[in-house]
Amino acid sequence: MQKRVLVIGGGGGGIGRATTGAFGNEGAAVMVADLDPQRAAEAADAVRAAGGTAYPISGDVRSAADIEAMVAGAVEKLGGLDVLVTVVGGQVAFVPAVKLHEMADEDWDTIYEVNLRYVARAVRAALRVFLDQGTGGAIVSVGSVTGFMAAPEQAAYGVMKAGLLSLARTVAAEYARDGIRMNVAAAGAIATAVANGVVDAGVVEEIPVGRFGRSDEVARAVVCLASDAASYITGQQLVLDGGVSVRGPFE
Ligand SMILES: NC(=O)c1ccc[n+]([C@@H]2O[C@H](COP(=O)([O-])OP(=O)(O)OC[C@H]3O[C@@H](n4cnc5c(N)ncnc54)[C@H](O)[C@@H]3O)[C@@H](O)[C@H]2O)c1
Repeated sequence: MQKRVLVIGGGGGGIGRATTGAFGNEGAAVMVADLDPQRAAEAADAVRAAGGTAYPISGDVRSAADIEAMVAGAVEKLGGLDVLVTVVGGQVAFVPAVKLHEMADEDWDTIYEVNLRYVARAVRAALRVFLDQGTGGAIVSVGSVTGFMAAPEQAAYGVMKAGLLSLARTVAAEYARDGIRMNVAAAGAIATAVANGVVDAGVVEEIPVGRFGRSDEVARAVVCLASDAASYITGQQLVLDGGVSVRGPFE
């Protein structure tokens, strides 16, 4: 059966757009949610132009009502929901990168809102749909290596990304018997517009694979974790970092 997928942040130029496109290529029906209605529409158009099924919806993840509307909109348009993907996140796209002692309270709040609070709300809304349908479901959140490695000048971001894995573990423990899974796709340095602004080109020297990752490489991992190929994987984090996190101190 055709999977019915909601991608929150799916209009983005980087990982979001690639993820929307990858689900479209797999023959899924996709609801693309994004703050920017034009981005959402363009991402949906691209899926349709390739022969797939996609609909745009705009909304702000900082709003509880908008999260409910995104999930309800997906259920209405797609006739139900099988997969939730959360993409929105980051630090430097939202607040300045500063050392921990300089970080303002309101910046911590912002980073919580756009990385973790909305994910918990979207997961809750999707769980209610999955349980009502009685057909199970899969959730994938785009995380980051900063969730388990140091995050210099991005402390709040790292803390929130660490929270995604905790949420996935709890979903795994509470809902596995309902056929519901949640996993995290934790990305390293991915060549996107946002990363271009903050990641020094010299960083590539530290990446064992010898290059930045691509958005489509993250997207394909997200699709895999959401698919039946990952039916026995839940509460886990799949790391997509070209080997950065396993490299030791020796050449
Ligand atoms: N780019 C990287 O190197 C990198 C590395 C590790 C993890 N990540 C993670 O990947 C994810 C996507 O990052 P990206 O840089 O590829 O971005 P992206 O280009 O995929 O864009 C994300 C989308 O989120 C939307 N958005 C922003 N604020 C929103 C809001 N309040 N409500 C609704 N939508 C909103 C934007 O309009 C944009 O379309 C994030 O979770 C980020 O933490 C990125």
